[in-house]
Amino acid sequence: MTDEVLLQVSELSVAYAGKKVVTNVSLEVRARQIVVVLGPNGAGKTTLLKGLYGLIEEREGSVMLGEHDISDNGPRRNMAAGIGYVPQGGTVFPDLTVEENLKLCSRGIGSPSEAYDQMYEIFPSLKRRRKQRARVLSGGEKQMLAIGMGLMPEPKLLLVDEPSIGLSPALADQVFQTLTTVNATVGTAIVIVEQAVDRALEAAGYAYVMRAGQIVYGGTPGSVDVDAISSRAVPNREASTQGTPERAQEA
Ligand SMILES: Nc1ncnc2c1ncn2[C@@H]1O[C@H](COP(=O)(O)OP(=O)(O)OP(=O)(O)O)[C@@H](O)[C@H]1O
Ligand SMILES: [Mg+2]
Repeated sequence: MTDEVLLQVSELSVAYAGKKVVTNVSLEVRARQIVVVLGPNGAGKTTLLKGLYGLIEEREGSVMLGEHDISDNGPRRNMAAGIGYVPQGGTVFPDLTVEENLKLCSRGIGSPSEAYDQMYEIFPSLKRRRKQRARVLSGGEKQMLAIGMGLMPEPKLLLVDEPSIGLSPALADQVFQTLTTVNATVGTAIVIVEQAVDRALEAAGYAYVMRAGQIVYGGTPGSVDVDAISSRAVPNREASTQGTPERAQEA
């Protein structure tokens, strides 16, 4: 059975000081699906996520979360509506302990201690370090903590910006494995924007390719022409699909 559409983005444009850097992006994410948005440096991946989450107000177009129109929501309302956001570089508060970092994201949660337990189950290395300041964590542990912070409010949809950036291949694998596990066990739908193409495609149920602020391809992970992503060609193995991306399929 195909899961229902959870996030529907239609013709979203996002600008800085009047200059559009994301133009007419349409995409969809189904419940419990992992969707990746691939693209080179400067393609507009971060701007897309920030626009979606309401961190940039200069935007047009429509964003629906289920039946709710969230096009004009700021981050606080989006968080309350069930969206989590993990910024590029996995921002954590270095002078707070692991648990204090998680606690900061627990507002509105009935029972934070249960939520901590769930996080420590997903991220065992954080449990061992829960009383330590975040500044002593390794790069991979910091990224895990940042993802944990995004998951604390139990979002239906988690937006993750380049989770593998700055990590060794082994740690990047671990981070992706964790995201896949969260998706499979908790059922959280996840949008990952990435440059690490192979890893991202392996995790994804559906993939979009972004270039110069636009989605230039949408298809199953196997249909993406990996070699063409940073070149000028349209990155589909079989045929050009310029224009509106096709509807996301079941994973
Ligand atoms: N705060 C800002 N003000 C003005 N322009 C910006 C701002 N942030 C990003 N840009 C520009 O918007 C474009 C897209 O940037 P963005 O950070 O979204 O790309 P990206 O795909 O996330 O790249 P990367 O893979 O390097 O993180 C770039 O040309 C960038 O210079
Ligand atoms: Mg970015």
